Amino acid sequence: MVSTHPTGVQHSSRQYLPITSTQNNLLSPNQQILPLTAKVNSSDCLEIGGCDVTTLVQQFGTPLYILDESGLRTACRQYRDSFKRYYLGESQVLYASKAWSCLAICAIAHSEGLGIDVASGGELYTALQSGASPSKIYLHSNNKSREELIFAIESGCTIVVDNWHELDMLVTIAQGRGQGSSPFRIMLRLTPGIECHTHEYIRTGQIDSKFGFDPNQLDELFTFVSKQSAINCVGLHAHIGSQIFERQPHQDLAALMMQWLTKAATYGIEIAELNVGGGLGITYTESDDPPSIEEWVKPICEVIQSACAKQNLPLPKLLCEPGRSLIANSCVTAYTMGSSKVVPDIRTYVAVDGGMSDNPRPITYESVYRTVVANRMSDPLTETVTIAGKHCESGDILIKNAQLPKTEPGDILVVMATGAYNYSMASNYNRLPRSAAVLVTNGEANLILQRETYQDLIRQDCLPERLK
Ligand code: LLP
Repeated sequence: MVSTHPTGVQHSSRQYLPITSTQNNLLSPNQQILPLTAKVNSSDCLEIGGCDVTTLVQQFGTPLYILDESGLRTACRQYRDSFKRYYLGESQVLYASKAWSCLAICAIAHSEGLGIDVASGGELYTALQSGASPSKIYLHSNNKSREELIFAIESGCTIVVDNWHELDMLVTIAQGRGQGSSPFRIMLRLTPGIECHTHEYIRTGQIDSKFGFDPNQLDELFTFVSKQSAINCVGLHAHIGSQIFERQPHQDLAALMMQWLTKAATYGIEIAELNVGGGLGITYTESDDPPSIEEWVKPICEVIQSACAKQNLPLPKLLCEPGRSLIANSCVTAYTMGSSKVVPDIRTYVAVDGGMSDNPRPITYESVYRTVVANRMSDPLTETVTIAGKHCESGDILIKNAQLPKTEPGDILVVMATGAYNYSMASNYNRLPRSAAVLVTNGEANLILQRETYQDLIRQDCLPERLK
């Protein structure tokens, strides 16, 4: 039996099979578990970006993040084009680089016309080094250091101010810069108090959140900001959470932000930019059914446009900052399968050569992933196994009850939709070197992150003389 699931993935007694490009025309990359270019080739192996996964693994080793360039570019374009299509004013999509920050990915986002959202000095440094333009970089964080603020100001980025402490620091920095300096750009992040159905740890918009100014203090905030001539407050920002499938919360957010914009005007603050954050969900398993990128963008544009029309206001520049929905589904992680253990009448464990250090999401959020065996794409699914990582921790389980064909040590297990918050949250737990990543397109594979070596692991270690 073969049925086409709404996610665009064919599910059968065989493994998850990628759908062909003609079938997936209407789907956004965030709606499919496998990357857009995934295919099964004539050797029955999984191919991504025209590269056979088993060959990639021979060349680059495992664990290996494999990133499909055309899938990532398609997602960037779908965001950008949807705004062009549905928003009459100016717009700017930012890539939330916390999802995966490295030079190559920032460079791709930049080349597609996206700006970059950075959440630390390190992400800012990476974005700048990649060639992204500072005028399209926005710095976030609820506890930016003075050094990070100065770095952002000197680089010409916009600072998304989160709280009073930071605002005070910025005023002091501005005063120290002297009369001749031009004011730097800030936006104010507000807590919208909008609840959405997602994991508690990745919800940020509710009132009980560590992020953003309390909207009950708007009068005080706008009064203070309106008096600061050395700071140019250009916009407002809010983010309600991540992996969200409903569209209503972002529409409510857009409406609320228009009320804030109107209020700011009464204090003489002209809000020229509104940033509605990120949060669009993706398909990790066939039970996930997120809207497409276009379906997410359109109603947000409509809400802002109709509010502006009603009040006869000019359209603000509209920004959003997706991370997961831009990159997650364009990447898979390939592992080599190793030892196994049968616990009679309970379960069979099969271990891979990575785990919670390259993908901490299952142990952190109980996230569920789907998998295929890259060198046995057409074998029937006869086994139910639990995929264990190799770390000294019982909870280091990547996938419970995975449906697999019969496998042997040395087979290549591929975990899908690992592009967001995998590498960026990776660790060296048990001193495992961090994995390599390759970018694949049209049969070409380029290394974008080198595999760490044992020497890398001790690079920052210091052995005091007296211990030698
Ligand atoms: N903007 C802000 C201010 C954010 O805090 C985030 C995500 C984004 C944009 C991008 O959200 P996205 O489009 O990716 O949903 N580590 C968690 C996710 C944490 C999200 C943090 N903020 C995970 O692995 O699910």
